[in-house]
Amino acid sequence: MKTNRTHALIGIVLACQLLTLSSCALGPEPLMSEDLTLIPRPQQLTQKDGCFKIGSKAEICCSDVELAHTAQLLARYLGVRDENITDKFGKNADFVLQLNQTRDAGLGQEGYELSIAKDQVCIKANTCAGVFYGVQTIRQLLPVGIESKDDSTVTYALPCMEIRDAPRYDWRGFMLDESRHFFGKAQVKKTLDIMAFYKLNRFHWHLTDSPGWRLEIKSYPKLTTLGSKGDWSSPTNPGGFYTQEDIKDILAYAAQRHIVVVPEIDMPGHATAANRAYPEYSGGGTERHPDFTFNPGKEGTYAYLTDILKETVELFPSPWIHFGGDEVSFAIKKWQDNPDVQTLMQRESLNTLYEVETYFNRRMANVIHELGRITVGWDEVVDAGLKPEKTVVMWWRHNKPQQLTKAIGQGFDIVLCPRIPCYFDFIQHGTHKYGRTWKGFCDLRGVYEYPEEPESYRPQGQTRILGIQGNLWTERVHNVERFDYMTYPRLSALAEAAWTNPENKSYDDYTMRLKNHMRRYDVWGLGYFNPLLPESTPEPVWPEQAQSD
Ligand code: ACM
Repeated sequence: MKTNRTHALIGIVLACQLLTLSSCALGPEPLMSEDLTLIPRPQQLTQKDGCFKIGSKAEICCSDVELAHTAQLLARYLGVRDENITDKFGKNADFVLQLNQTRDAGLGQEGYELSIAKDQVCIKANTCAGVFYGVQTIRQLLPVGIESKDDSTVTYALPCMEIRDAPRYDWRGFMLDESRHFFGKAQVKKTLDIMAFYKLNRFHWHLTDSPGWRLEIKSYPKLTTLGSKGDWSSPTNPGGFYTQEDIKDILAYAAQRHIVVVPEIDMPGHATAANRAYPEYSGGGTERHPDFTFNPGKEGTYAYLTDILKETVELFPSPWIHFGGDEVSFAIKKWQDNPDVQTLMQRESLNTLYEVETYFNRRMANVIHELGRITVGWDEVVDAGLKPEKTVVMWWRHNKPQQLTKAIGQGFDIVLCPRIPCYFDFIQHGTHKYGRTWKGFCDLRGVYEYPEEPESYRPQGQTRILGIQGNLWTERVHNVERFDYMTYPRLSALAEAAWTNPENKSYDDYTMRLKNHMRRYDVWGLGYFNPLLPESTPEPVWPEQAQSD
């Protein structure tokens, strides 16, 4: 109780400190010292005199029923009861959440206006997502202690200001690989909540790969009864999977936070776990990558994968379905001796195994299109002759800039996630040992400053750079401790890179704001890396006995 009151006091003190600062429009100059610590930094912010005091009786009203859940989240952040939410839309409430009657073109699909005056706080936006982001901004303006508050009698204060804000990119993503190591529902929800806090909006879920298959498919139960066992650390580990009920629960949680969950069913490579369950569809592999591929020569393979995609599409409302397409060349040689593949090559006049791979990709991409969704693939698929108007390419091979150039030339929509700086399984500090490197690593500044937009990144013709994404591959992330260490605070740097226009970004200013965020991480119990005091947060040790690659 005492702690909570202290937090309330800190809140008011911080607000009053702000009052001593003159009003200023945001420009390239620093946003603020330690006090106003929004991440991502808003595009436009004007401070005003005074503050709005929040008591336990604060009333929240919203213009539309669709905003009810966002209002409940706001009530929770403020520590007020759900009964304080009123459906009588009137201008007198303390907090007004409002959808614009007339579209404000400058705010687009996700922008918002937040006005904090002495007598009222008002969020206006064109969409529910915009209102939600306004609420996340309020959450960040509240004292850190609000995150652990259990005393509804305390009062807080918000400094008066006007914000007008909208994202730079539509796609602000985070990818989690749960095949290599399985983390489970609680960790995924925690991640979604922090993504929402940072206004990230795409959760790319890598659910299938060689170590384990993590998604229940009812028409092929062995995918999980057999395929979900084991993980990267050991084939005898329990592994795990999500039932379809789990998936629905997580999708609802994500939807309330305006996050689209994009599932990935990786094919035709990275299929070892699936092939363990249904070896009849295996196209073989190598000693290093056993049973790595699906068999592209068998008609049954296409029917099987189509069934899997149908169930996936029924579960996930995402407009995008990721079908992988990466690293097939690792283990394609076996196809040479496969009579089914030979027959296919003759029938379809395919001259090389690579042409077989692109045939497979075109066919499965078309399945996804016929199911009414957009295909997403890793940058290998650029050469497969897919339909640019229905395909998103994720550029990941930073050592192959030609794949990006080709993707741009062919008019694909693109998500930028090159290994450096976007792979969070890479180390983030020169003293770190447990993680990948590639003639370089992924430090916080590198993430923050991405993308620099050299000439070659500029969209041409129909191409759009949809956005950027951080990818947490989990070969070297076997528990939550390492998950947190590799993800935070790089996720916050990625969020600002994805949201804030380059002219409003400043790394030095961001690191000042980050200090306050790390206090919040402490309250949340995150085992993050502190890049400002690296020695204070030593690397969690990677177990010696585990495979290194
Ligand atoms: C990848 O890292 N294999 C996309």
